[in-house]
Amino acid sequence: MTYCHNVGIAYFCLPNNIMKDQLSKDIDESRQGESLVLPIENNSAQTKKMFIESYGCAMNFADSEIVASILINEGFSTTSNIDEADLIFVNTCAIRDNAEQRVRQRLTEYNKVKKKNPDLIIGVLGCMAERLKSQLMEEEKLVDMVVGPDAYRDLPNLISIAEDGRKAINVILSKEETYADISPVRLGGNGITAFVSITRGCDNMCSFCVVPFTRGRERSRDPETIINEVVGLYENGYREVTLLGQNVDSYFYSGGGLKKEIYSEEELNSAVSFSQLLEMVALASPNMRIRFSTSHPKDMLDSVLEIMARYPNICNYIHLPVQSGSSELLEKMNRGYTREWYMERILAIRRIIPGCGISSDIITGFCSETEEQHQDTLSLMEFAEFDFSYMYKYSERPKTLAERKYKDDISEDMKSRRLTEIIHLQGRLSTESNKKDIGKTVRVLVEGFSKRSEDFVSGRCSENKMVVFPKENYKPGDLVDVLIHDCTQATLLGKAISLAAGH
Ligand code: 5AD
Ligand code: SF4
Repeated sequence: MTYCHNVGIAYFCLPNNIMKDQLSKDIDESRQGESLVLPIENNSAQTKKMFIESYGCAMNFADSEIVASILINEGFSTTSNIDEADLIFVNTCAIRDNAEQRVRQRLTEYNKVKKKNPDLIIGVLGCMAERLKSQLMEEEKLVDMVVGPDAYRDLPNLISIAEDGRKAINVILSKEETYADISPVRLGGNGITAFVSITRGCDNMCSFCVVPFTRGRERSRDPETIINEVVGLYENGYREVTLLGQNVDSYFYSGGGLKKEIYSEEELNSAVSFSQLLEMVALASPNMRIRFSTSHPKDMLDSVLEIMARYPNICNYIHLPVQSGSSELLEKMNRGYTREWYMERILAIRRIIPGCGISSDIITGFCSETEEQHQDTLSLMEFAEFDFSYMYKYSERPKTLAERKYKDDISEDMKSRRLTEIIHLQGRLSTESNKKDIGKTVRVLVEGFSKRSEDFVSGRCSENKMVVFPKENYKPGDLVDVLIHDCTQATLLGKAISLAAGH
């Protein structure tokens, strides 16, 4: 089967914490509009064709590949042409209100296509499913299927139900489902970098966050299946994986995929922690570059940093969302750490992995945030010298602790003003960080051609900065040592020195 990687991609982005270039867009939540349409997989006239569009985080993109895998096994194919689709799936994000609004707009557009093709089935997958099931299906009649993130194995059955004209809903959240045995179909990517899920769900209950409600309890995937997937990806030409979890540091596997409290002592002793998993992956695929996301400041242990420092194929990059620089607000956010704790974690990274790239997520205008607390966020950013950040205005989400307990009392104008200050500071920090790299040689994994010119290739260095340099004879998948001579806020510019032998 041949996959076409450049047909049908409406707009490809590396989402949620991994997207590049956000800083060049002076608005928050710019990720929300990004979507990925999986391209044509085959054109056989006999098969039913699905069109899948994904919004939101990397986990959603990875999930769309699981959905594609399940349905291709059932004889479906994918298409990038909405007009020839028999099924349209939108894999949704609920993290902020405007993410949901965007999906609603798309559903209205899909319904125009349905007017021309009444047999078309429209399905909502992912995080909006649980929250809006009856609204979307019964009140607004916008969709035929609603499928939550743990119910994708039920898709073939749900499709038959929808084809019979009945309501097809499954939003049951599981305590065990990790899709461990399913090999995702890699569509729409660059053939070089891939996401690999290691946990699903989240138990952290940050007070602003809807994820624990939309994705359910945290569970960890069997390490053997993770390693097999990574080794298989390398055999298929992939050269970098990003291990994905809402909080990778709480990865914990002891046979059943459930939480640690219920294990016996013996099971606990044989359990695999995140640092152990990282080491296992690094050893099992020594020429694969390894990244991971997202780290949680309360759980990120020195043992993880030490493993990163020990293995050259684990990239020197950590995404460590701070959310706020004020200890009082962090407490209200239920983040489980203080400003001082976060600063100590930054110092530990700098001590154990000198030169490590660090990025963050920041929320501005959370309930009751004072001007002083906003200043605390700015000063913490200065302290941490983030290489880049994803910056958002607080958006109240239904069911969350913050919605029930606190007032969303910071005006829109105030949120915008504070966000602008945060974005401008991050812009300066990113530029300063990039300028420090001028004159250095960095090792780049070429991912593709530069957006601006086919004469240039682009890829990321270990610290996750985007590097662009003249193509010469280099091609995607090459590891290249590049001398940096210039930079912008979002990109390092250089000239290749030579092909690199290892990591
Ligand atoms: N409002 C704004 N930003 C949010 N995030 C999560 N929930 C909200 C919300 N209600 C941000 C956090 C998180 C990132 C993925 O999205 O910064 O780290
Ligand atoms: Fe949401 Fe917090 Fe879990 Fe991240 S760690 S997904 S912000 S609840």
